[in-house]
Amino acid sequence: MEAIQWKANSLYLLDQTKLPVEEVWLEFSDYRAVAGAIAAMVVRGAPAIGVSAAYGYCLAAMEYRSLSPAAFQSNMALAKGVLAASRPTAVNLFWALDRMERCLSAHGNSPDAVPALIAQARAIHAEDVEMNHAIGAHGAAVVPEHARVLTHCNAGSLATGGYGTVLGVIRSAFAQGKVDMVYADETRPLLQGARLTAYELVRDGIPATLIADNMAAFLMARGKIDMVILGCDRMAANGDFANKIGTYSVAVNAHHHGIPFYTALPSSTIDLSIPDGGGIPIEERPGSEITHVFGVQTAPLEVGTYNPAFDVTPHTLLTGIVTEKGVVYPPFQENLAKLFG
Ligand code: MRU
Repeated sequence: MEAIQWKANSLYLLDQTKLPVEEVWLEFSDYRAVAGAIAAMVVRGAPAIGVSAAYGYCLAAMEYRSLSPAAFQSNMALAKGVLAASRPTAVNLFWALDRMERCLSAHGNSPDAVPALIAQARAIHAEDVEMNHAIGAHGAAVVPEHARVLTHCNAGSLATGGYGTVLGVIRSAFAQGKVDMVYADETRPLLQGARLTAYELVRDGIPATLIADNMAAFLMARGKIDMVILGCDRMAANGDFANKIGTYSVAVNAHHHGIPFYTALPSSTIDLSIPDGGGIPIEERPGSEITHVFGVQTAPLEVGTYNPAFDVTPHTLLTGIVTEKGVVYPPFQENLAKLFG
């Protein structure tokens, strides 16, 4: 299953705002529309945002290729800014755009770089899928037999170039006969767990139980969860990490109940330039996402709202970090620097 395709010089995105009810593919030939789709969460999930932005950068280069070299260069810088302004937290977006910009400058910042840029975006996409398979293999090794696994949000095929980070681990462990049940937090307010993770698990025939976010602690107390594994949008040098709002609560609850707590991520999600979680920019989204549930008003319009899309979990609550290079254990700062510095 995949959510991003590049065909005949256009980008196609599976509209994740419509899932699981409708499977609608949208075609993009304008990089501004790609930035809009990232902001509107037509495509979401840290690696998927990075891959889409890379293709968006190609669309910009195609649009501007007939300009003079100087005008081409300045417009490409503007296009990069537009794509980068779409969402602030997932570092994969900036990582992918920087890589595209380096590719352009390696080709003399010339309009002739278009084929090389497309090849670079395709490489970012393909490498992401490859990393997810490696994450899956490493992560499956830490999943116990007969595991009942809790996850939060969606870190699956839909959130990546394909296969998924967390769902990559779950898919690999399930193939080894280790997974008895996956509990998916519904993930307020936009229900990525209910709409997307449940959808992926059901399609793959992996036993899945959907719960509301506020039920996880009760399941843990009743001994129904053997491990937690969830995604990451940006990890700081010390292992503190931002992920979908609600992750921190799950971490505290897992710690209280002595349940192993992992995050899974590709190296493109690690930001060693930020020393700890306090420096990670946290996106705030419109209050209408919590006063309304998919267009239906559920709160008085006069009420104040606060809607951070992510929270930060301190590394002290982490058991391990599953990466494409293996599972990283404490001391995280030292071990992350050794593997990724
Ligand atoms: O707001 P979203 O849906 O983009 O948030 C997604 C997450 O928090 C995922 O867990 C994270 O991006 C990792 S995806 C492999």
